Amino acid sequence: LAASFGAGTLAGLRVVVSAGPTYEDIDPVRFIGNRSSGRMGFAVAEAAALAGAEVTLVAGPVSLPTPPGVARRIDVRSAAQMREAVLAGAAQADIYVGAAAVGDYRPLEVAPHKLKKQDGAPLALQLTENPDILKELAARSPRPFLVGFAAETRELAAYAQDKLARKGLDMIAANRVGAGLGFEAEDNALAVYWPGGGEELPRAPKRDLATRLVACIAERYRATYA
Ligand code: CTP
Ligand code: CA
Repeated sequence: LAASFGAGTLAGLRVVVSAGPTYEDIDPVRFIGNRSSGRMGFAVAEAAALAGAEVTLVAGPVSLPTPPGVARRIDVRSAAQMREAVLAGAAQADIYVGAAAVGDYRPLEVAPHKLKKQDGAPLALQLTENPDILKELAARSPRPFLVGFAAETRELAAYAQDKLARKGLDMIAANRVGAGLGFEAEDNALAVYWPGGGEELPRAPKRDLATRLVACIAERYRATYA
């Protein structure tokens, strides 16, 4: 049984996993978020721990228990907080898996008081882009083995392979969102790409899929640093 979980394949390695959405505050009672449940990232953290890694889980706002075997969990809310926690953890990490759905934009200003309606007039929110955590890690030297996620509603392979190259990643796990898959769903299916190769991980419950993904990461990690 242990062998089927790939126990030991990540023994001695430090792995940081980010998971869940981020919330970007608009005012004291409102935020911009997304539909990530955090389940895929939590499953990856659990699978990596089962494979023998020392796992740090950086979690956005989710309501999930810490998976067994995970060494430490850091709870964050915004993309800025996630960036800080990930960069700190990744400095000593061998592998970073960015499963979090990091908010791409945040309000330029957070209103100090609750926004009031304007007698039917439209409300315009000004947004500014958040820093890209993965890209920032990719520019570091030394840097951990970098695994990104790409959730796409169309042109999965093309968009994912473009992200792999553009962000300078070692691997990307792409999933189609919608039709009972991806965000808020029990099941997922992944297409995994690395420079010069790839593998399909067919539809399965997120925990099973995470086990397969971790095996794939371990294999590519060994191939890269052997
Ligand atoms: N990511 C990140 N920091 C960000 C945005 C994304 O580290 N500010 C990471 C995610 O954790 C994920 C990967 O980048 O591992 C791809 O995220 P995705 O949203 O698919 O890519 P983007 O570059 O944000 O492109 P898009 O415009 O399609 O959202
Ligand atoms: Ca994005």
